[in-house]
Formats: sequence, structure tokens, C-alpha cells
Amino acid sequence: MPFAGLILAAGMSRRMKTETPKVLHKVCGLPIIDHVISNLQKAGCERIATVVGHMGELVSEHIDNRSEIFWQHERLGTAHAVMQAKGLLDTYGRTVLVIPGDVPAVRPETISRMVAEHEAGGAAATVLTMELDDPAAYGRIVRDAFGDFTAIVEFKDASEDIRQIREVSTGIIAFDPAKLKDALQYIGNKNAQGEYYLTDALMILYEAGHGIQAVLLEDCDEGIGINSRQDLAVAEAVLKGRKLDEVMSSGVTVISPETTFMDFDVVVGQDTVIHPYTILTGRTVVGRRCELGPHTTLLSAVVDDDSDVCHSYARECHIGPQCKVGPYAYIRPGTELRQGAKAGSFVEIKNSVIGEGSKVPHLSYIGDTDVGSGVNIGCGTVVCNYDGFKKYRTTIEDDAFVGSNTNLVAPVKVGKGSYIATGSTITADVPEGALAVARARQENKEGWAERKRRLAKADKDN
Ligand code: UD1
Ligand code: CA
Repeated sequence: MPFAGLILAAGMSRRMKTETPKVLHKVCGLPIIDHVISNLQKAGCERIATVVGHMGELVSEHIDNRSEIFWQHERLGTAHAVMQAKGLLDTYGRTVLVIPGDVPAVRPETISRMVAEHEAGGAAATVLTMELDDPAAYGRIVRDAFGDFTAIVEFKDASEDIRQIREVSTGIIAFDPAKLKDALQYIGNKNAQGEYYLTDALMILYEAGHGIQAVLLEDCDEGIGINSRQDLAVAEAVLKGRKLDEVMSSGVTVISPETTFMDFDVVVGQDTVIHPYTILTGRTVVGRRCELGPHTTLLSAVVDDDSDVCHSYARECHIGPQCKVGPYAYIRPGTELRQGAKAGSFVEIKNSVIGEGSKVPHLSYIGDTDVGSGVNIGCGTVVCNYDGFKKYRTTIEDDAFVGSNTNLVAPVKVGKGSYIATGSTITADVPEGALAVARARQENKEGWAERKRRLAKADKDN
């Protein structure tokens, strides 16, 4: 059922104590307003408008072309915010759904159900409500003796009796736009906050004899409005729980949902197992049959099928199929591990390609390097890619063997199938098939230790 969505996002977000617009704070890795926009889109919304004001440039810039923008230059309340969207109300004939920009968890199905019920009931307005054990500062739904809706009373204006009411407004209200426009003219600001409340439109319409409906949420988690950092944490838990539920339903094992964190856009393939204390954020995409964690963080990383990443941190990189990463690896942006490659313990790799089947098993730094296939990088190898001014690239060709504790001073090329002796500091290219030894030759001084001990003892006895 087509409808228009009107997002209110001009408020000051005082209770958040923030220098960032409230709707740009993230929940499950996405700004709150992105959840709102995407929920509207998924619900079949054909036109989206947003009212911005406080730090509105940042908000409208972020929204970009996903919504029309209306400006509310003074924050005089939610009804005043809606009035600024005259351009929408004057030109749109079907249902207009007003939604606060700080309610990110409502399900698209709920929005479409509500719009359908609104239209089927022929109501002037339909409000989405919820029953809470602790109704906090939400607007209370007041009903008459027959149980019919009569008004929404804001917490600050509510008497003790009304504060006892557990049914509250989610702030999501579907309107017939012509009737909404009529009602807006009569809204005053004589209330505890001196604001023009949108909620008063319902009372005005009710008193004018129009039908008002209330649709009750089955799952109250959907109605959470984010006013404070505490609310932000609650919303995070709700949306994260839903995301994990979704991936488990699609065939992913999450051993410990309490300690697993996953952003909204993350994709995980079937039969992957996620061990405890694992965090997957941003645009991370994980293939099938992988083992992730324990204690692993992937930030916008791509991991292909059948790879294992444990006790590691990987960011903006591509871990190919059948790779082994960790424990304790740090894979940095621009890195690609090709099929069957290994980045083992205490290994840091930056902006490098590790070719098919190549191994960096222990204690190494590889930066700005192109490693071919079948290469073995010995323990403790360091690519010296930076001379204090510039970074240089290193090339290690197929099947080369880099001995332990080698320094590769970039730019340098290690030829195909060549060997580097342990402990070498390589400053010049190594030809294909050669052995490079770049360390001082060992000298043994026979009997030296015994002489030293004797001298030391004599010294002490004197
Ligand atoms: C509002 C509702 C309350 C409801 C609750 C649900 C009103 C008066 N109150 O209360 O009934 O239970 O949401 O979460 O509507 N905004 C503007 N311009 C303004 C004022 C606010 O655009 O002048 C925007 C805010 O940015 C916010 C939304 O409207 O996204 C709601 O405002 P907020 O101050 O958060 O209202 P609540 O006290 O939460
Ligand atoms: Ca709010």
C-alpha cells in the first residue's frame, strides 16, 4: 500500500549530550536515521520527506538523495516540525505516516500493517502504541469508558493518574493529510514544554468527531525511541539480537549470542561457526563453513569460504578461501590473502598480497609487498618499507624461501624460487634461483670463554 513517510529529525537531542546530531549516532553500525529510512522503504513508502533543523546541514548531507528535506529553523515542537513539510502535505493525497527520526527498530511489516489498518478503518489518524511495564516519559494513550482513543498526554503534562497508564505512543502516526492540515491550525503551545505537540492533532481530530485508531505493537522492542545514551544501548541490543537471530535462522552457528556483535549489513554464509567474543562490523562479508573467533574483530573485511580467523583483528581486507589467520594476527587495509594462504601468530600485514598457498606463520611484518604463490616467509621477517619519508614496495616471487629473521629493505625484489639465508638483511634484488646470504660470517674464537672466566676470577680474588 503506497504511502508517504515524514521523518522528524530537527530536534536538539539535549538528553544525548552530544555534538553530533542524534539521528547520526549509530545503532548496529548504521546511523539511526538510516534504519528509519530503510524501514520506510521496505514497508513500501513511495515518498520520503525529512524535517531537519538542529545541525540540519549534517543531517541533510548524510541523507543525500534518499529523502526530500524540509527545514525547521526554530524548534517549536513536533507539530511545528510537521507544518514545515507543507510541500508534502499539499501535494500528497494518500496516507502520510509521521515517524520520529529516533525510532529505528520498528519492523517494516509493522509499518505496512499499520498503514493498511489505517486505510481499512477509514480513520483520520492511526497511532502505533505499545504497553510498557515502565512507560517512562512516553506520551500516554488516554481512552474513554468504551476503550476508544481520546488523547495522547505528554508525560510532562500528565497527572499522577494518567502517568499510571501503561499504554504509550511510539510517535509513529498515520494521517489523512487533509485532516492533518486542518488539525495543525488549531494546535497551541500552552503546555509544560511550551511546544506545539503533534500528539494534540489526535485530540483535535477526535473532538471534531473523526475516527482515531490505535494499533498496539506485539513486540514493544520495536517502539523504542532513542533520547539518551541508555536508550541507544537498549536499541543496540534489540537490533543486534534481531540480526543474530536472522543469521542463525539462515544456518550460521553463533555459540554465544551475548558476546557476539554484528552490524546490520554484515553477511555470513551457511555453516559458518562464530565463536565467543567476535565482532563483525561495517560491510563485512563472510563465506560458508568458516570458523571465526574466539576474540576476533572483522571491520569491513571479506572472508571467503572455508577460512578460519581466530584471536585476530582484520580491517578492510580480503581473506580468500581456505586461509588460516591467527591466533593474534593483524590484517590491515589493502591486504589480500589468496587461496590457502596463512597469516599466523603475531603477524601484521598491510597493503600486501599473499599469494596462493603462501605462508607467513609467525612474528612478521609484511607491508606494501607482493608475495607470489608457494612462498614461505620465515619467523621474524620484517619488510622495511619506510625510510622515514616514503614507502616502497617489495616483491617476493613464487616459491621463494625467506629464512627466519630476514630484513627486506624496500624497494627490493626476491626472485622466483630463490633462498634467503636466515638473518639476512637484503638490500639488493635476489636473482631467480639464487641463495642470498647477507649477514656477517661467523667467527669462532677457540677457548675464549674459558680465558674470560679465568681473568674475571683473578680480578675478583685480588
Ligand atoms: C515524542 C512524542 C511522544 C512519544 C515519543 C515516542 C510529541 C510531543 N511527543 O516524545 O508522545 O511517546 O516521541 O518516542 O510528539 N522534533 C523536531 N522538531 C521539534 C521537536 C522534535 O523535528 O521541534 C523531532 C525530534 O528530532 C525527534 C522527534 O521529533 O526525532 C520526537 O521528538 P522528541 O523530543 O524526541 O520527543 P519525545 O519526548 O521523545
Ligand atoms: Ca524521542
